[in-house]
Amino acid sequence: MIFKELGSTGENIPALGLGTWGIGGYEAPDHSGDKQTIALLEEAIEMGYTHIDTAEYYAAGHTEELIGEAIQSFAREKLFIVSKVWPTHLSSKDLPKALKGSLKRLNTDYIDLYLIHWYNPDLPLKESLSAMAEMKKLGFIRHIGVSNFNTNQLKSAIAVSSEPIVCNQVLYNIEDREPEKELLPFCQKNDITLTAYSPLRRKVVSENVKNILEKASRKYNVSIYQIMLAWLLSKERVVTIPKAASVEHLKENLQSLELLENFELKL
Ligand SMILES: NC(=O)c1ccc[n+]([C@@H]2O[C@H](COP(=O)([O-])OP(=O)(O)OC[C@H]3O[C@@H](n4cnc5c(N)ncnc54)[C@H](OP(=O)(O)O)[C@@H]3O)[C@@H](O)[C@H]2O)c1
Repeated sequence: MIFKELGSTGENIPALGLGTWGIGGYEAPDHSGDKQTIALLEEAIEMGYTHIDTAEYYAAGHTEELIGEAIQSFAREKLFIVSKVWPTHLSSKDLPKALKGSLKRLNTDYIDLYLIHWYNPDLPLKESLSAMAEMKKLGFIRHIGVSNFNTNQLKSAIAVSSEPIVCNQVLYNIEDREPEKELLPFCQKNDITLTAYSPLRRKVVSENVKNILEKASRKYNVSIYQIMLAWLLSKERVVTIPKAASVEHLKENLQSLELLENFELKL
């Protein structure tokens, strides 16, 4: 595993984490594969996926429940669990309730990094971030961050937060490169971790990008998905969280780390 510093906390987190959207259902819970899913999550953690990304929204809480089951046989301090609060739960009254729901489902006393899932223009950011700071003070959250915030929204969050905003989780992959214009340079300059979500673009890329990836995959003798991950991981401040639901995919994605030493991809 490769580790990168989380914000300017001095704490290093695994640069390759595990995404869980679709694990145990999408918008609604799907209990049909629970047993196999828990076993797969346990295997993933054993392999080195100790950074796990989830959200209260995923499968209406069931994804958190499955993770909560899987983590029970591991030392909690070895894990880095990220969860996110849905934008309709951001008031000072609702946020603590949402957090407690996540903690219960995850069967844990604290979340390592708690993110505002999406910016909500109808609620003052200060109110949500103050509620998060309070939860941090009480020990229910270790770090605070945001997700899907553009640069201006991130700047506003930093301006009103009493606690450091250590991370912004956004859509970023070899095809969706909007963050490179402003957000990524801002994060790099201000020591904020950028977590790239949908790093494999859910396996759908344009013909042009596919050609570039195939050329690189022949050069390095790896899959195009490993190229997509190495491309992200080679960037300063960027960590990523591919979702994988098979041992083969989990292993293959981990192997992308081996590419990094001499990795170069011109686009
Ligand atoms: N903050 C947000 O708003 C937000 C939004 C979207 C996503 N996310 C987070 O980011 C995570 C990752 O993004 P994502 O789930 O959208 O998409 P993704 O990671 O880009 O792609 C997942 C897809 O890639 C496949 N895959 C994984 N490894 C592979 C490999 N080595 N070879 C071939 N196929 C492979 C998976 O198949 P299998 O499942 O069959 O292995 C799955 O179909 C999510 O799970 C979630 O945790 C956050």
